[in-house]
Amino acid sequence: MTSTIPAIDKLVENTIRADIRATASYFVPDANGYIKLDAMENPYQLPDALRAELGQRLADAALNRYPVGSYATLKRKIRAGLGVPSGYEVMLGNGSDELISLMATAVAHQDRRAVVMAPTPAFVMFSRAAQFAGADFVGVPLDSDFSLDLPAMLAAIERHQPALVFLAYPNNPTGNLYDEDDMVAIIRALGETGIAVVDEAYQPFARKSFMERLPEFPNMVVMRTLSKLGLAGIRLGYLSGHGALLEQFEKIRPPYNVNVLTQVAAEFALDHLDVLDEQAGLLNAERSRLAAELAALPGVEVFPSAANFISLRVPDADRVCAELRAGKVLIKNLSKMDKMLANCIRVTVSTPEENTAFLTALKASL
Ligand SMILES: Cc1ncc(COP(=O)(O)O)c(C=O)c1O
Repeated sequence: MTSTIPAIDKLVENTIRADIRATASYFVPDANGYIKLDAMENPYQLPDALRAELGQRLADAALNRYPVGSYATLKRKIRAGLGVPSGYEVMLGNGSDELISLMATAVAHQDRRAVVMAPTPAFVMFSRAAQFAGADFVGVPLDSDFSLDLPAMLAAIERHQPALVFLAYPNNPTGNLYDEDDMVAIIRALGETGIAVVDEAYQPFARKSFMERLPEFPNMVVMRTLSKLGLAGIRLGYLSGHGALLEQFEKIRPPYNVNVLTQVAAEFALDHLDVLDEQAGLLNAERSRLAAELAALPGVEVFPSAANFISLRVPDADRVCAELRAGKVLIKNLSKMDKMLANCIRVTVSTPEENTAFLTALKASL
């Protein structure tokens, strides 16, 4: 008997989808030893006393058990603390990344290609999730000031009949809030044929939301995350919308997608939202200072931001990023993401000390 040991490259080719093989992994740079300003994290921890109390709660968590499948307490705290309209349920995800993927999977028909749409430049997971689910992604370019190109969006909706349209409010990587009336026009145009996902990842800083308007638009879901508020490490996203939609999305959610430690930490944090809100307030004040100082630099164009990051155009983004990296400051080079973002960089708003370190390094690199 001859045993055949398959050549691994043949095995990969025979089994893994061609488009996946051709796709690069989502790259996360090693930030060890850097001032980390590339991922819109909140630089502040919880105060020591709260951390000690949380430590005790985590120690008491039943790690030997699966999470309680209903997540009833956590959901109740989200609904009560985060402005979900009465009568509306929430669905939980392992970060909003997972919710994006679940929704894309839910709309990706097997008998015809579904379309997932977003104004671009957009958060990269919208197109990746669409692709991995087996749907087509259609990006509709923003206007040059990063506002929605409403006629282009409406024409693209008419033409492609998207099942899902992601509208990040505020948008990443541009930082701006779209015009509310433009958003409403898009949601209305989708009507019975498409679901509008208002992605409010940066709502703690923008302090504007479509959440309270859920009852007006049965085809809208509002998605948020605890990541930017200060809990990126626990990975918890949530969304709310009409029960009939949530019921379908829930079918795809893996049963225990939110782990016990996340559940305990999130419930604890939701009991101390005032602390996180105060941190967001500090970051908003720093955003104003940073934006003003950046705007005063020659050759720098600063884009208005309602989020906890600022995007800006510099004379040579590759050089600036390389020099900042050499100085141990990590930011995001947006240049290759979209042609509208040539020579653009994005920096997270952080503590006064880290923002000043960034400003100093940036000035030296210009
Ligand atoms: C617009 C937008 N949505 C969603 C996310 C993902 O957030 P989470 O950490 O909840 O997966 C991000 C992260 O940067 C984002 O910018």
